[in-house]
Parts: sequence; structure tokens; C-alpha cells
Amino acid sequence: MKYSSQMVAKPYFIFALILLAGEILFGITMSIQYIYGDFLFPMLPFNVLRMVHVNLLIVLLLFGFMGATYYLIPEEAERELWSPLLAKITFWVFVVAGVLTILGYLFVPYAELTQLTMNDLWPTMGREFLEQPTITKIGIVLVVVSYILNVTMTVIKGRTTTISIILLTGLFGLAFFFLFAFEFSDNMITDKFFWWFVVHLWVEATWELILGALLAFVLVKLTGVDREHIDKWLYLIIAMTLIAGLAGTGHHFFYIGLPGYWLWIGSIASAAEPIPFFLMILFAYNMIKNRRIQDDNKIALTWAKGTAVVGFLGAGVWGFMHTLAPVDYYTHGTQLTAAHGHLSFFGAYVMICFTLISYAMPILRGRPHGNCAKAQKVELTSFWLMVIGMIGLTLALTVAGVMQIEMQRIPDSAHAMAFMDAQAKISTVYIIRSLFGAMTFVGLLVYFYSFFVKEEKAVA
Ligand code: HEM
Ligand code: HEM
Ligand SMILES: [Fe+2]
Repeated sequence: MKYSSQMVAKPYFIFALILLAGEILFGITMSIQYIYGDFLFPMLPFNVLRMVHVNLLIVLLLFGFMGATYYLIPEEAERELWSPLLAKITFWVFVVAGVLTILGYLFVPYAELTQLTMNDLWPTMGREFLEQPTITKIGIVLVVVSYILNVTMTVIKGRTTTISIILLTGLFGLAFFFLFAFEFSDNMITDKFFWWFVVHLWVEATWELILGALLAFVLVKLTGVDREHIDKWLYLIIAMTLIAGLAGTGHHFFYIGLPGYWLWIGSIASAAEPIPFFLMILFAYNMIKNRRIQDDNKIALTWAKGTAVVGFLGAGVWGFMHTLAPVDYYTHGTQLTAAHGHLSFFGAYVMICFTLISYAMPILRGRPHGNCAKAQKVELTSFWLMVIGMIGLTLALTVAGVMQIEMQRIPDSAHAMAFMDAQAKISTVYIIRSLFGAMTFVGLLVYFYSFFVKEEKAVA
């Protein structure tokens, strides 16, 4: 570790991993409810579990991004973090606000929670991913503002690099588009329109910049390739991301009451969205081919390659599957959407967090050359368990989606099966989904275990 303030990253990483364990456990519980509808009911109803599941996802990724940034920025700026104290305070504020909100979801009926937190004054609650009480949303804004201030000041006072500029642009975008969470309309069409400004413009525009910057950072460190070379790739990836991703928002505006031209804009622009994800694969493998150094932390490089590949599969391939308007007409809101949601979020964003954690944690724990060979081997096992688990889960959901579309969507309205009847016919596939989910969880446990493998000797 070059700068002592990089240490503030550690609690962020650890907390992100703990939340991920919760995330997966809630997912598995829901998946059992798909098989036995009354499982843990009425103690833990499906809608509550689902809300916790998707909210934990967002919060854990924010913790992961913050940890990654606090580690990366001092090294890029070649100076200590502007205010390590602020970063520590933000951590605790976010932990307390996050835990209280999740407890609120679990123990207070949602309708009561809206009253308790005075949602009437400024209604923002009740929409997927944005279920947080308005007061929590304001808290998130404060945390994010303090985080961006800290990072910006560090960059301004130190060296600026392409990586830090792209990262900062992504962070400003993340903050800006979150503001649309405060826009609430009684009209479902306008409400959905702005809801996608948060959800789509996060994952398919601003977060992609963050992803590109984090991936580039780890690749620079592990391959020793010239920055100039890396910068060219980054510019290309970022340009493609913005060109396709911004107008690509249109792929959510099909058949929801918006003008028909969105069918064209959305289909054409979003059809180009897989390109930047594919470029990330080329980028990663090209860097590795031209590497100047052999870093001992091999597993971090495995995660970097994995992020590029699985991110492309989940976002690029599974996204493309339903992105053309005539296809989405049949697939909208089916299990195919869930299949894509799982592999894209996992492949791109959860895996980039793992990449940063696997790169930085050994250094933060006083092992500049990475963990010992044995620990890396254990971690490699966890990598495959999680990756195969999530790909298996996605394939199961894809089969479920195709069956659902055949029974529920393709037949004309006189012959189409009702939602629940179709779901009942798919239950065997849901058992397989649960098993792959369990495999993912075992993978995470093995990952935790890799932290405790005793150092034998440094890898030669
Ligand atoms: C890191 C791992 C995971 C990520 C990133 C993730 C992400 C997501 C996302 C984005 C959604 C919303 C999907 C949509 O509305 O289309 C969701 C819903 C869900 N997830 Fe996960 N999930 C993960 C792990 C799991 C696991 C391991 C299971 C179960 C085995 C699971 C089961 C579910 C279920 C049952 C839903 C609700 C789907 C519905 O409403 O029908 N998730 N998850
Ligand atoms: C890492 C990047 C991405 C993530 C995390 C992501 C995540 C998601 C999630 C969670 C949903 C479900 C939202 C909901 O209704 O609750 C969704 C929907 C969708 N995504 Fe993505 N996505 C990504 C990239 C892409 C790309 C690159 C494409 C196109 C090539 C795409 C096409 C779509 C489409 C068309 C829908 C709407 C599906 C429907 O109508 O049901 N996504 N995405
Ligand atoms: Fe989208």
C-alpha cells in the first residue's frame, strides 16, 4: 500500500461482502417460495423479501464502488485522500441508515413504513429498486455527495489520469441520475419514464464508466502496460457506452404508452449496447497479452477477465436477446428479464467488486504480492462455484422464461394461460434454479474461507 489513507477502503469491502451474503440468502429464500408458496409465510412475504433482495444489491454495490474508489484514487492522484475522516464518517452513516432501512422493510408493514417516514410530504416510495423511504433517499444523496467531494478534492489536488477522470464522470452521473428518484408522478407512464432515468442510466451508462475505470486500474497494476495504450481503449469503450447507452434507454419505452418512435430509437440504439461490453473483453485480453510484468496476484487477474466475459454474457448477450421491440413485445417482464437481470448485475457489477477486493485486500492486509498460492487456489474454487452457480441460475431462468412465453404470451388471449397456472408448470425448473443459487452461496462461503487460509510462503 502506497498511501495510508487507502486503508479506509477495507471496511467498505468487508461490509459489501456481508451484504452480498444477505442478498443471496434472501434470493434463495424467495426461490424456495417459488416452489412452496407458503414457505416462511406470513413471517417473510415474497414482496418483502424481493424488496430487501434488490435494495441490498444496490447498497452492496455502492459500498463496493466506494471501497474501490477510496483504494484507487490516492494511487491515481499520487497523494493521500483529501479527508480519510470524512470517508470513515460516511461509512458509518451509510451503515446505520442502510441497516435501519432494511430492518424497517423486514419488521414494519410497507404501508405503515410510508406513514412512519412521512412519505406524504414528498412521495417517492413504492417503486422497484427505489423503495427506500424519502428520508433514506436524502441520506443516500448526502453520503454520495460527501463521497464525491472527497474524491474530487483528492483528484484536484493531485495528479489527474484518464482513469480518475472517467471514474469521476461516472460518479457524477450516478449522483445526477439518482435525483430522478425524487420525481414522482401519479401518471404511471411519466412515472416509469423517469424511473428508467435512474435504473437504465445507472447500469447502462454511468456505472459502465465506473466499471471501465475500475477494470482499467486493475489491468494497469497487474500487467504494467503503458497508460497511453490503456487510455485509447478506455476512450473507445466510454464513447461506445455513451452513444449506445443514452439513446438505448428507449428499449424501456416500448408499449408503455409512449410515442411509437421509441420502438425504433430503442431497438437501434440498444442493439449497439453489447459493443462496449465486448470491447472490454478485447481490452482485458489484449492487456494481458502485452503485459510487461507477471504479478503474483494471479487470482485478481482471473476476476478481471471473468468480469469482462460474464459481464458481456449477462448484459450483452442476455440483454440483446430481448432488446428489439418485436421480441420484447412477447418477453417483457417474464423470467427472461429476470435471467438477464441476474447475470448482468452479477457479471458486470458484483464481479468488478470482487476484482477490486481480490486485488486490494491482500495489499491492505500487508501482503503486497497477493495471497499465498494455497489461498489463491481456494479463491479460484470460489470463483468457479459462484460463476457456474450464477450462469446455471440464469440458464434455468431462461428455460423458465421461454416456457412462460410459450404458455402465457404467444397464444391469443382466448388460449393464453394465466400467470400463476403457467408458473405452476415450470416448478421443476425452479428447483434447479434454487440448487444453482445454493451453489453460488457455497462459493461465497469458500471465498470468505480464503481470507483465513494461513500464509505458507509467498508465491514464487
Ligand atoms: C449476486 C447475486 C444476485 C444478484 C445480482 C441478483 C439480482 C437480482 C435482480 C436484479 C432481481 C430483479 C430482477 C427483475 O425484476 O427482473 C432479482 C430478483 C430475484 N432474485 Fe436475485 N440476485 C442474485 C442472487 C439470487 C439468488 C442466488 C437467487 C435464488 C436462488 C435469487 C433469486 C431471485 C428471485 C426469486 C427474484 C425475484 C424474481 C421475481 O420477481 O419473480 N437471486 N435478483
Ligand atoms: C450491466 C448492465 C446491465 C444491467 C445491470 C441490466 C439490468 C437489467 C435489469 C435488472 C432489468 C429488469 C428491470 C426491471 O424491469 O425490473 C433489465 C431490463 C432490460 N434490459 Fe438490461 N441490464 C444491463 C444491460 C443491458 C443491455 C446492454 C441491454 C441490451 C443490449 C439490456 C436490455 C434490457 C431490456 C430490453 C430490458 C427490458 C426487459 C423487459 O421489457 O422486461 N440490458 N436490465
Ligand atoms: Fe436498459
